[in-house]
Amino acid sequence: MTATIPGAPVDEARTPNVRRTLVVTDIVDAATGIRSFTFAAPDGSLLPGFVPGSHLIVGAGDRTNAYSLTNDGVAPTTYQISVLRLADGNGGSCWMHDMLSVGDPVEVELPRSAFPPAPRAMKHLLVAGGIGVTPILSHLRAAHRWNRDVQLLYTFRPGCGAHVDDVIALAGRQAELFVDQSGFTERLAATLADQPIGTHLYMCGPPGMIDHVVTTAQDLGWPESRIHLERFGADALDAGEPFVVRLTESDLTLDVPSGTSVLETLEHNGITVANRCRQGVCGECRIPLSSGAADHRDLYLTDDEKSAGDAFMPCVSRAAAGCILEVPL
Ligand code: FES
Repeated sequence: MTATIPGAPVDEARTPNVRRTLVVTDIVDAATGIRSFTFAAPDGSLLPGFVPGSHLIVGAGDRTNAYSLTNDGVAPTTYQISVLRLADGNGGSCWMHDMLSVGDPVEVELPRSAFPPAPRAMKHLLVAGGIGVTPILSHLRAAHRWNRDVQLLYTFRPGCGAHVDDVIALAGRQAELFVDQSGFTERLAATLADQPIGTHLYMCGPPGMIDHVVTTAQDLGWPESRIHLERFGADALDAGEPFVVRLTESDLTLDVPSGTSVLETLEHNGITVANRCRQGVCGECRIPLSSGAADHRDLYLTDDEKSAGDAFMPCVSRAAAGCILEVPL
């Protein structure tokens, strides 16, 4: 039996899909189109702790979405998230903005580590773009709590910067804010070129910003092992290349076109797979993989499970380049 120590980080590999009903205790507008929500246990008791960069899986109407926790993960009595309203998203963010009120119950799955700090980093260089500040904020809180060397570059559109006061309070002069692209780009290159050995880089933001930061770092000789990134989730995934899935039990070979998921391909061929979020966050659609390497794009499997290569999430994950996936269906 595995006991969960109140206030200690949840080991999501041992306690998958642990669900709780919490209560909305606060809602505030954090910036244009961004609303911050605070959830707590109905009796106000301590919640399981979490490491920086963890996600909270939240039931939003008939959707299940993953949001980065923004508060301090040590012995928390609340979970806090900030949600950008996406009119063209899957509807979850609009539901959160339009339907949730203080006092409402909300179904969550306990936090999952997704983007943790490197334990041996000598310095933490954080780069945030727009709503990508949310996981970066929890990294910043941890760096502040444990007195770690930290530096932050945060870029956002004028009037759309969430948690700016939090960032300044936590990082002071170690935080630099940008509302113009050229200023950010210039400072980013200079900052990446002048870091002490042992610095780790963490970033979250729009796909274009992430690609730019990664390319700039790589061009300057940063090793991959010191570059950590968090993409926004399935909405930000590209369409991917076409590939083939073989169903060994049914003796079927299916083409998965670009822009279509394995899950959709199975459904188009009359094969039902249980699913819920269709975003790679809930774990419901997990299917075994008998051969072939998957390009894991989900936020559910742990790194060890992804390395084991014996399961994948067909709602978002695809085949690694040039691979054929075989599944026992
Ligand atoms: S349906 Fe939720 S992970 Fe695939």
